Amino acid sequence: MHDLTSRPRRLRTTSAIRDLVAEARLDRRMFVQPHFVVPGAGISEPIEAMPGIEHQSVDRLVETVAADLELGIRAVLLFGIPEEEAKASDGRAAYSGDAVVPAAISALKGRFGEGLAVMTDVCLCAYTDHGHCGLVRNGRIDNDATLPHLARMALAHARAGADVVAPSDMMDGRIGAIREALDDDGFAETAIMSYSVKYASAYYGPFREAAHSAPAQGDRRSYQMDARNRREAVLEAGLDVDEGADILMVKPALAYLDVVADIRESFPQPLAVYNVSGEFSMVKAAAARGWVDERALVLENWHAFRRAGADIIITYHARQAFAEDWL
Ligand code: PBG
Ligand code: ZN
Repeated sequence: MHDLTSRPRRLRTTSAIRDLVAEARLDRRMFVQPHFVVPGAGISEPIEAMPGIEHQSVDRLVETVAADLELGIRAVLLFGIPEEEAKASDGRAAYSGDAVVPAAISALKGRFGEGLAVMTDVCLCAYTDHGHCGLVRNGRIDNDATLPHLARMALAHARAGADVVAPSDMMDGRIGAIREALDDDGFAETAIMSYSVKYASAYYGPFREAAHSAPAQGDRRSYQMDARNRREAVLEAGLDVDEGADILMVKPALAYLDVVADIRESFPQPLAVYNVSGEFSMVKAAAARGWVDERALVLENWHAFRRAGADIIITYHARQAFAEDWL
C-alpha cells in the first residue's frame, strides 16, 4: 500500500496549503444587506424572528447604512413596509408620492452617492390589502393587470435614484414591462435584478412576519415556482434575459443549489442568490441553543453558494460577518 500516486490528502495538510488550493472563495464585495424601511422617524424596532435585523425609519436606516459602509458593506436591498391603512387592493401606496422606499433611496443616495449600490425590491404584496404580489380579480391573480403597477413602482424607485430595481413578484412579462417603462422615462441606465427563479417556499416565513405581507387568503403557488421543478428554472431565467434582466437571481438559496448551478451554466449574466429569512432564522435559532457553530455554519453555506456558481450573496448575516471579521 505504498504505491499510491494520488493522495488528495497531500493538499489538506496545513491551512496555508488548503487556502492556496481552495476552489470557492468569498469576497467582501459580493455581499448585499437587506433592510426593512418603515414610515416615521426615530424608529428602530427589532424583528423577533430575525435577531439583529430591524424595522427602521429612514433617519435610522441612514445611520445603520453609514456604519455598515464603514465595515465594508457597499450594497443594500430595500423593502418598504407601509402603514396598514395605506394598503389597497391595487397596492398603489407602493408608488404614491409619500412612499417610504423612494424617500429612503433619496436619503441614501444623497448621503452616500456612488459609494453605495442601492437595490430595491419591487413587489406589491406589502402594499396590497389582500397580501398578494399581484392584483386579484375574481379570486385569481390578474397577471397582465398587475404589470403597469409594478412598472410604476419600479419607476418611482428609479426616479428617486435607485441603482438597481429587483422585481420579486413572479408575474409573467414583468421584466419587459419594467424595462420599457424605465427606458421611456429616461432611465435606460437603471439596472434590473430579476428574482427570476423564485420558488413558493416555506423559507419566507420570518420575512412575511417582518413585512406583514402574508396573503390573507390562499398562497403564492399560482405565481411562484413549484419546488419540484428544475428545468422550469432555465425557462424562467431565459424569459427574463430576453426581456432585459441584467442580473438573475435564485431564491431561496440553500435548498436550490442544483438550480443555481444550472443557471450559472446557462447564462452569462451575473447571478445572485438570496439567502432568505428562514435560512437565516434557522441558523440563528440553532446557534442560540448552542447546537451549531454559527460562523462555521454560515461560511459553509456561503461557500456552497460560490461552489454552485453565485456571484452575489444577499444575506441577513452580512453585517455580523463583517463586524466580526468572519471573511
Ligand atoms: C416579496 C418578497 C418576499 C421575499 C422577498 N421579496 C416574500 C414572499 O415572496 O412571500 C422573501 C425574502 C426572505 O424570506 O428573506 N415578494
Ligand atoms: Zn410579493
